[in-house]
Amino acid sequence: MIDDLWYKNSVFYCLSVGTYMDANGDGIGDFKGLLRRLDYLQGLGITTIWLMPFQPSPGKDDGYDISDYYGVDPRYGTLGDFVEFTHGCRQRGIRVIIDLVVNHTSDAHKWFREARSSKESSYRDWYVWADKKPANAGKGMVFPGVQKSTWTYDKEARGWYFHRFYDFQPDLNTSNPHVQAEILKIMGFWIQAGVSGFRMDAVPFVIATKGPKVRTPVEQYDMLRSLREFLQWRQGNAIILGEANVLPKTDMEYFGKDGDRMHMMFNFHVNQHLFYALASADSRPLAKAMVETKPRPATAQWGHFLRNHDELDLGRLTKDQREVVFGAFGPEKTMQLYERGIRRRLAPMLGGDRRRLELAYSLLYTLPGTSVIRYGDEIGMGDNLDLPERNCARTPMQWSNEPHAGFTESDKPVLPVIDKGPYGYEHVNVAKQRRDPNSLLNWTERMIRMRKEVPEIGWGDFQVIATRDPAALVVRYDWRNNSVLFVHNFDDKPREVSFTVGLAGDEGKLLVNLLSEDHSEANDRGKHTLLLEAYGYRWYRVGGLDYLLKRSDIDTDAAGKASHPA
Ligand code: GLC
Ligand code: CA
Repeated sequence: MIDDLWYKNSVFYCLSVGTYMDANGDGIGDFKGLLRRLDYLQGLGITTIWLMPFQPSPGKDDGYDISDYYGVDPRYGTLGDFVEFTHGCRQRGIRVIIDLVVNHTSDAHKWFREARSSKESSYRDWYVWADKKPANAGKGMVFPGVQKSTWTYDKEARGWYFHRFYDFQPDLNTSNPHVQAEILKIMGFWIQAGVSGFRMDAVPFVIATKGPKVRTPVEQYDMLRSLREFLQWRQGNAIILGEANVLPKTDMEYFGKDGDRMHMMFNFHVNQHLFYALASADSRPLAKAMVETKPRPATAQWGHFLRNHDELDLGRLTKDQREVVFGAFGPEKTMQLYERGIRRRLAPMLGGDRRRLELAYSLLYTLPGTSVIRYGDEIGMGDNLDLPERNCARTPMQWSNEPHAGFTESDKPVLPVIDKGPYGYEHVNVAKQRRDPNSLLNWTERMIRMRKEVPEIGWGDFQVIATRDPAALVVRYDWRNNSVLFVHNFDDKPREVSFTVGLAGDEGKLLVNLLSEDHSEANDRGKHTLLLEAYGYRWYRVGGLDYLLKRSDIDTDAAGKASHPA
């Protein structure tokens, strides 16, 4: 059934429990608070929550430094509260996926404490050691400019340990069968607690060969297959969404040619070119990136996003393209991070311009895949560049104009709430936008509703339709005898855009606008000519509204496969 491939036509919402809603007034968001906000999320229309790490942790990397995989950090609540939360989600038809952070543990994890205590410890080989400082210790840091090395000497262990990320995050030796078995156990545990899958952190590093002698790490792709197999045995419709910022030519290694590895991957390739398009008004490199990442197995899916909790990584653009994006969205040094990215939230990057925000989101919702939105973006939240590194874009959710945005009753919120300037909580908050039919919040809700009514985007095959204008992107989707078409104008000037839909006969003559009354009829030669306002966008159904009658009623996943491009 289509429902088993629920992630194909879904809207994900990512949030971090510590900054979402504080119920007990200690300044830290918690599961009880989150539970009270589930009706809000259901109203918004999102279908899946991606919950960022909430397990016990010293919290030096926002929870990505876990010290116990089988618990809930007491600051957020108890395991009981967690299960209440997943139950509350299930009652509202919302699924939950959680972060699976198994490339490394915190150095406070008991495995690491045991491992460093003696060479004879049975946990020694759970980590990656060297007797002498490896020659390449100064290479391969993920956080250049902040992180000095990938190997650190540990006095107690009398040896060097490997860490791809910060020095308090020792890498697990993921080729050790005991570690591999433990990873499965962790997945099994959380599946049992009610989650529908995992956002797997740092996938290329998890599966890479590690060690003092490794010069060029080699990815052990088959590990991904065993993770999936295990997951599928335990719960058939659970998924893994991989974080892997890789080149299109290796995409299939991650998905698996037979669709037997990752169910989903974040599309970093499209993400970077999307920001280039927004910055330059040239949509051609974006169209190219979409085509380059088109191949995927029938059951696999892309996760598209605008901003996430990390920096906007521009490392895969050309130098010139990167300069254009920096110039437009992050011209000052304090806005940039790790020599490759921008650490701001979306709204301030786009100058708070509602037209550009709508363009960016309309584009996101119509990219070939599933949309992943970040908490606070539905109301256009800003950032606080005084906070270090990526924390600037992780400030508490702004619920109302009460003190600390209604996030907490404490005077010491875990991170300061934004209270100054145009993005301060008195201007930007949920309560205010809920009352305003034209707010970004209500616009977002309408767009999500429409997105869910257009499964062609999640399931179908797409084509970039030719126009003469690089500022315009025209994309058509086909699925089960139905077609939809989307037009976006990246320019700050109005544009006249002409194209033919490219279907035989009368099929592409009428374009019915899904968002307003302004439909389009082709001329005698089948050509459509639209006048798009600056940053304008259009969502059309091709050939009229009787599509529900045309849609075939075979609702099996086999049919989905049959009509999906391989
Ligand atoms: C991923 C996360 C990032 C974290 C890192 C280390 O890249 O997205 O936030 O710092 O992994 O776990
Ligand atoms: Ca709390």
